[in-house]
Amino acid sequence: MNVNDVHHEGLKSWVNQIVDLCQPDKVYWCDGSENEYQDLCNLLVRQGTLKPLNPHKRPNSFLALSDPSDVARVEDKTFVCSQKPEDAGPTNNWVDPKEMKTKLNGLFRGCMKGRTLYVVPFCMGPLGSPLSKLGVELTESPYVAVSMKIMTRMGAKALRQLGADGDFVKCLHSVGQPLLPGQKDAPWPCNKEQKYIVHFPEEESIWSFGSGYGGNALLGKKCFALRIASTMGRDQGWLAEHMLILGVESPQKEKKYVAAAFPSACGKTNFAMLIPPKGFDGWKVTTVGDDIAWIRLDSEGRLRAINPEAGFFGVAPGTSAKTNPNAMKTLSRNTIFTNVALTDEGDVWWEGMTETPPSHLIDWQGQDWTPDCGRPAAHPNARFTVSATQCPSLDSQFDNPEGVPLSAFIFGGRRADTIPLVCESRDWKSGVYMAATTGSETTAAATGAVGVVRRDPMAMLPFCGYNMGDYFNHWVSFESKTSRLPKIFCVNWFRKGTNGKFLWPGFGDNMRVLKWIFERVDGKTSATENVLGWSPEFHDLDWSGLESFSEETFEKLMTLELAHWEQELKSQEEFFNKIGSRLPKVFSEIQSSLKEKLSNISESQGPNAHV
Ligand code: GTP
Ligand code: SPV
Ligand code: MN
Repeated sequence: MNVNDVHHEGLKSWVNQIVDLCQPDKVYWCDGSENEYQDLCNLLVRQGTLKPLNPHKRPNSFLALSDPSDVARVEDKTFVCSQKPEDAGPTNNWVDPKEMKTKLNGLFRGCMKGRTLYVVPFCMGPLGSPLSKLGVELTESPYVAVSMKIMTRMGAKALRQLGADGDFVKCLHSVGQPLLPGQKDAPWPCNKEQKYIVHFPEEESIWSFGSGYGGNALLGKKCFALRIASTMGRDQGWLAEHMLILGVESPQKEKKYVAAAFPSACGKTNFAMLIPPKGFDGWKVTTVGDDIAWIRLDSEGRLRAINPEAGFFGVAPGTSAKTNPNAMKTLSRNTIFTNVALTDEGDVWWEGMTETPPSHLIDWQGQDWTPDCGRPAAHPNARFTVSATQCPSLDSQFDNPEGVPLSAFIFGGRRADTIPLVCESRDWKSGVYMAATTGSETTAAATGAVGVVRRDPMAMLPFCGYNMGDYFNHWVSFESKTSRLPKIFCVNWFRKGTNGKFLWPGFGDNMRVLKWIFERVDGKTSATENVLGWSPEFHDLDWSGLESFSEETFEKLMTLELAHWEQELKSQEEFFNKIGSRLPKVFSEIQSSLKEKLSNISESQGPNAHV
């Protein structure tokens, strides 16, 4: 696109300012066309970043292998630099914005030497939607530019929407590795020493340095659509959430939409693309989104959600024709794979894709791999980048500018014990409490320890761009705004038996829980009260088509053990202490009542009681 076609003076002057700072050799304005996408992919192939896959097996698809130092989000290098530290709150890293700008100006000075700066205008949400927002990412990474083409509505159409003076979020990104004259480029340029993912919520800008991977670099996603958008939502009365959105249709053609928050790599993509199991004839699940939801009250008092993204940046390992056939079909073509393994036939493979691994592969680090070599072939956070339009289960309302009305919120974590398979909250407040106290084992989606239980409220711990206490209050406040709020449920697909194996079959069988939730929304099925809220008995779930699942296993999935819950409450209390004085008052009431119930049970039934 020619810069003469750009009529937004504010945008042009910002681009000039960044050109002066970063000193790229050239500037290229992305138009978002198919031709441009192919040209950039060809360039990436020539530079060695992308390897074309076998066109007979995986048409128009590519493999990228990242630098081993750049494989996931870097939470310890992620900052929210609000003017006041208390607005970032106790769960975010904070540095004074002036000090951080000085640091960043130093890092970005000359960082694009020898490279081309790509100007990437994009729209988060359907074009023309009152719920959508615009951004422009400046990056010297063509890998980021092609990924943004898949993940957002990118190019001339976004620029047109921006007009001559529209607002946009300024997203500056650099891999932080300038090219000196004559220097050979790395296949995955990045900065091995310094990475900084920085948000300035008041000026709605993002500065990301040193990484080319995922949420660190595709700035429309976590940085804009969650961290910056959540602060916009706080100020403007809406919600930006780490949630999938799906539609469920019953055999009677009744349709409801639900949004579900699970932490990173805890099953959102799988749940969003669920295929009902044998015995659920006539039930249908459709996909609106797999990672992010923007949610607003409509004029009739219902919460409506859009998916701000246009593609999926999904976890590859564990995805198979058995666990997620819709995803497998989605990525049969036009897909960029990152950090998966390459087969001898020029196709891709990852752990869990087939039961028997191929006898030889090139692994994600470019080395020969055999099944007995003791290393994983794909990185555990290997991902695919693919347009949502290829998804066979894509919902008819995916592009609806008004979004879809929500009937239920589901919150879940990865917990080997304590949390039952499913529970409905008593009311909105206790549902928000349940969501706010969600815990989950950490996964490979972020660098650092894996498998450690931490509090991950609403699956937003790494993504809430403001004070977590204010965020909880914002959630609580919806109760006074409408009488048509969705019901709140919590689920846990990950409870384990004493043998260390998952007790719940998961994946398509999650439909059994989803059906119960669907029916609970209208009070059409029964539930029994427990300490937490309302849960199904064995006979309340539909077991059609599943022969080998016993009532005994179900009981193991549902049991609330007193000892675990006493421990859980302690851990919740520690977390609340960290949040401090901005915690909603109603949380302490709910907590006291939970404590009282547990101590009554303990006194009357002893320490091994079920609650
Ligand atoms: P992000 O994209 O990181 O936000 O995560 P996501 O929630 O979309 O993750 P995804 O759906 O890709 O989760 C992938 C992991 O969850 C893989 O390890 C899957 O095997 C596992 N998983 C998904 N659904 C289930 C389930 O129902 N049961 C079990 N046991 N594992 C599941
Ligand atoms: C997550 O970690 O929740 C993701 C992947 O969805 S990334 O975009 O890299 O953050
Ligand atoms: Mn995510």
